[in-house]
Amino acid sequence: MKILIHQTRATATDCAAALIADRLTRQPDTVLGLATGGTMESVYANLIARHQVGGVSFARATSFNLDEYVGLQADHPCSYWHYMREKLFDHVDMDPHRAFLPKGDAADAEAEAARYEAAILAAGDIGLQLLGLGLNGHIGFNEPTSSLASLTRIKTLTQSTRDANARYFERTDDVPRLAITIGIGTILRAQEVVLLAYGAEKAGVVAQMIEGAVSAACPATALQMHRKVTVVLDEDAASDLALRNYYEQVHPRVSDPSI
Ligand code: PGA
Repeated sequence: MKILIHQTRATATDCAAALIADRLTRQPDTVLGLATGGTMESVYANLIARHQVGGVSFARATSFNLDEYVGLQADHPCSYWHYMREKLFDHVDMDPHRAFLPKGDAADAEAEAARYEAAILAAGDIGLQLLGLGLNGHIGFNEPTSSLASLTRIKTLTQSTRDANARYFERTDDVPRLAITIGIGTILRAQEVVLLAYGAEKAGVVAQMIEGAVSAACPATALQMHRKVTVVLDEDAASDLALRNYYEQVHPRVSDPSI
């Protein structure tokens, strides 16, 4: 894993956005794996700003989002389709016919999950997968004890995830109990992964992900098995890392994502 520790969230965000923009410049038809959540909002704002000055184009890209709540229609204000339109798609030159999310309101959610996995495979798998990190170690909605070989399927959300996401809904009870999520096996097939985490509240799970034993109890530890992962952190999120000095020696000039 390449561990990049930034002094501020702003430079960490810029670094993650630069990794995506550089990939799209090198390979305009990249298949992007996109994420939602609070951490991603500033990354998408940064990419929109780059797009507005001609710094990045999504015109030839394809995207697959990680997950969607079961039961929510695309136009529901809390759906991830709505989030993606509001935070990114409506502001860049992404072709809406090549921007995919699982259909949360599909009549048969299991069949929809299988269809989504097949669509990712048919697209040649994900080129660059963007990830946030859940407080409980989830990536996508692969909650603790998810199979580390899992493919796209329905997962029951943990109470801690529903509590963390309750801020987007009127009441905690409104947070759906089920989601369709791409699997850990699906994520591990991506050519490269960029994971972004901020803040002291993530420090414990960040240390577990990077330095802990690989275990389904912390699904993000599966990334230790991936060939090309870049973890972008701010100082608070890096504060529990035992080998922090080492990572800072290896990448002392972290604002330059090419190193
Ligand atoms: P957050 O969510 O960016 O809102 O912290 C991350 C996640 O749960 O994957």
